Amino acid sequence: MTFKKNILCIGAGYVGGPTMAIIAYKCPQYKVTVVDINSERIDQWNSDNLPIYEPGLDETVKAAKGRNLFFSTDIKGGIKDSDIIFVSVNTPTKIFGAGSGMAADLQYWEKTARQIRKHAESHKIIVEKSTLPVKTALAMERILTSTDSEIHFDVLSNPEFLAEGTAIKDLENPDRVLIGSRETESALKARDELIEIYANWVPRDRIITSNIWSSELSKLVANAFLAQRISSINSITALCEKTDADILEVARAVGMDSRVGSKFLNASVGFGGSCFKKDILNLVYLCRHYGLKEVSDYWEGVVRINDYQKERFILNMMSAMFNTLAGKKICLFGFAYKANTGDTRESPAIFISKRLTEEKAELVISDPKALHNAMTDLDGVDGKISYTEDPYEASANCDAIAVMTEWEIYANLDFEKIYRSMIKPAFIFDGRNILDHERLFEIGFNVFPTGKPALTHF
Ligand SMILES: NC(=O)c1ccc[n+]([C@@H]2O[C@H](COP(=O)([O-])OP(=O)(O)OC[C@H]3O[C@@H](n4cnc5c(N)ncnc54)[C@H](O)[C@@H]3O)[C@@H](O)[C@H]2O)c1
Repeated sequence: MTFKKNILCIGAGYVGGPTMAIIAYKCPQYKVTVVDINSERIDQWNSDNLPIYEPGLDETVKAAKGRNLFFSTDIKGGIKDSDIIFVSVNTPTKIFGAGSGMAADLQYWEKTARQIRKHAESHKIIVEKSTLPVKTALAMERILTSTDSEIHFDVLSNPEFLAEGTAIKDLENPDRVLIGSRETESALKARDELIEIYANWVPRDRIITSNIWSSELSKLVANAFLAQRISSINSITALCEKTDADILEVARAVGMDSRVGSKFLNASVGFGGSCFKKDILNLVYLCRHYGLKEVSDYWEGVVRINDYQKERFILNMMSAMFNTLAGKKICLFGFAYKANTGDTRESPAIFISKRLTEEKAELVISDPKALHNAMTDLDGVDGKISYTEDPYEASANCDAIAVMTEWEIYANLDFEKIYRSMIKPAFIFDGRNILDHERLFEIGFNVFPTGKPALTHF
């Protein structure tokens, strides 16, 4: 079969895999190849056991794989054969040298640019899919044009706004697709080619264009705004707990103002995920770089409140459980940073687990999809930690349960049975406010929701 164009995606991760699966699924006229340096990951994509869990992903991949969707480690061949290259490699926070702990580590990104320059034999459109500091496209252009070669590259910015756990839904029905480009004739033509791909399933009025720097910056700002809403509501939980106000009631009243809106106002133990913290810190670093101290301090506060919220969760547990956790057995319900994913990157559960072991508590960790990642995250942590998928088994003989992830299964458990199997007095700390607190109290638990008055039998 001859395809209209060959699309390549470099980076087969949480973004590259699902994004390309949807493009291939929706656009059978394009050949889509996803490459990665991690051969184990590629083998998993080529098997029935995909490397990431996302509702709907298995079916989408299955429908397109072998037809017009391919996974490979042949990066060189992929570059040579492609017309359009999406770059979706990881851009973690730098952990060394200048900007350590804050700036984006662009080494994977730059390596990719150099690989493209080395192996490209014809004109290509390069699409920034990774989240990058504003002005990265300029560096990309400089690397790509740093040889005598006649080959022309157009660099576009097309940040990804999907949320893990709902990635397929978000990709199928995005709020918007953003494409940033230069204003040259060739760049505008490249932009139109990318619009043509998305227009196969995204309504045209939701495909928006902008200058390339606005596009790069919009992704950082979108994540900063989302995280800021979580930190805003979480900051108020502390005040609610002191004043007998109820964060659910406050959030409902505030969110019903149409100027505010009700989404992303769920109080919790804190946000996690690979992006929020890294992207805000990246924004903070950029603002500092440009001498905008007030702006950087403002956004850094979002991360500070998140750290505060996680530590507050531990301190609340301590004070509720008679000021010592040593020797107590504590079960974590959930380890993923959110429901419907196995991803644990920056999950609050990692911090909570480490702090609990520092306090000499014994941990039993339960999660329907993230136990493997949890074991990797806690490898080498000094303390007694075991892992059990079954929440009934996990909570038996424990002193307390701490809800870390809003998995639906946890709201629907037989808590009478769980209560009978636990050490008394039994405690529940609901870091996601997903349980029926009154009912748990009636059963006999001492219940500590987030941002609501505690219900105790003492
Ligand atoms: N995860 C999300 O929810 C999300 C959402 C929107 C945007 N983003 C952004 O998308 C980018 C990718 O994120 P992710 O979560 O998919 O990361 P990831 O770590 O899951 O995947 C990145 C992949 O790139 C591969 N890679 C690195 N260097 C390579 C190279 N030189 N050649 C080939 N492959 C290479 C890695 O092996 C890895 O498999 C990041 O910039 C992130 O900020 C992520």
